[in-house]
Amino acid sequence: MSYFTNKTVWITGASSGIGEALTYELAKQGARIIISARRAEELKRVQQQAGTANIYVLPLDLEAAASFPPKVEEAIAAFSQIDIMIHNGGISQRSTVKDTLPAVQRKVMEVDYFSYIELTRLLLPHMQQRKTGQFVVISSVMGKIGTPMRSAYAAAKHALHGFFDCLRAEVWKDNIKVTLILPGYIRTQVSLNAVTATGGKLNELGKNIGHGFPADKTAQQIIRAVQKGKFEKFVGRPLSQEWMALHLMRLFPTMAIKIFKNAVPQ
Ligand SMILES: NC(=O)c1ccc[n+]([C@@H]2O[C@H](COP(=O)([O-])OP(=O)(O)OC[C@H]3O[C@@H](n4cnc5c(N)ncnc54)[C@H](OP(=O)(O)O)[C@@H]3O)[C@@H](O)[C@H]2O)c1
Repeated sequence: MSYFTNKTVWITGASSGIGEALTYELAKQGARIIISARRAEELKRVQQQAGTANIYVLPLDLEAAASFPPKVEEAIAAFSQIDIMIHNGGISQRSTVKDTLPAVQRKVMEVDYFSYIELTRLLLPHMQQRKTGQFVVISSVMGKIGTPMRSAYAAAKHALHGFFDCLRAEVWKDNIKVTLILPGYIRTQVSLNAVTATGGKLNELGKNIGHGFPADKTAQQIIRAVQKGKFEKFVGRPLSQEWMALHLMRLFPTMAIKIFKNAVPQ
């Protein structure tokens, strides 16, 4: 028996990268899984590759908030319960503050922040009624620091920490846990899919992401943090530059901010 036996986990952003890797790891651990993203055909590929019957494909656009109430109902109905919600789907950004159109700032907030909090609001009554649940939020090291070219992305990730720390303080009495995950550089499609100043797709594999930590090992680290009910956990390559950045920010913020001014965006 694993922590995930007889548990239902809903993962957004499961068509690629960290979400896809989490799906395979959770399938091995015996979870029932609901997988969401926009591309239904990619979700079906992940479903087949996971090799278990206990996967329900639920296409979902995180920018389409009006569709969330029926999607949440469908997710709960799929296996009669949701035990763990992994908010993972998201987009990154590569553009300066000066050049970034307001619509792009809003789009990143919509996908990376507002969708998470609205899905959470809709799922809460179900978890509170059952007196059990766990929200797992894939933030970023950028949820704690700021570097050039990431204003919208870092703003959304910082906002997640404020919101979900408050939620944890509200719902622990209902036996509902909140785990914030801070990945470093992970080898995924994230930089290819990042938005530019005008909302286009970057389509470039950044050097740091290209040399990033493997998604499958990241998924294993996330699963361990979920099992332990961690409040907040860095995942990625131990002792990496981003691990050091996070710790420097915690221990010596003034020095960290001086160093980040010169960070070369990749
Ligand atoms: N890779 C890293 O270095 C890194 C570091 C820190 C944090 N993260 C975070 O990790 C999470 C997963 O990213 P990843 O690295 O695995 O990148 P990825 O390979 O680009 O995967 C992103 C996932 O999000 C989904 N998605 C994007 N926009 C969506 C929308 N509007 N509606 C529904 N789904 C949407 C994509 O699916 P569809 O295109 O099919 O919709 C895809 O499944 C993100 O929250 C990201 O910020 C990644």
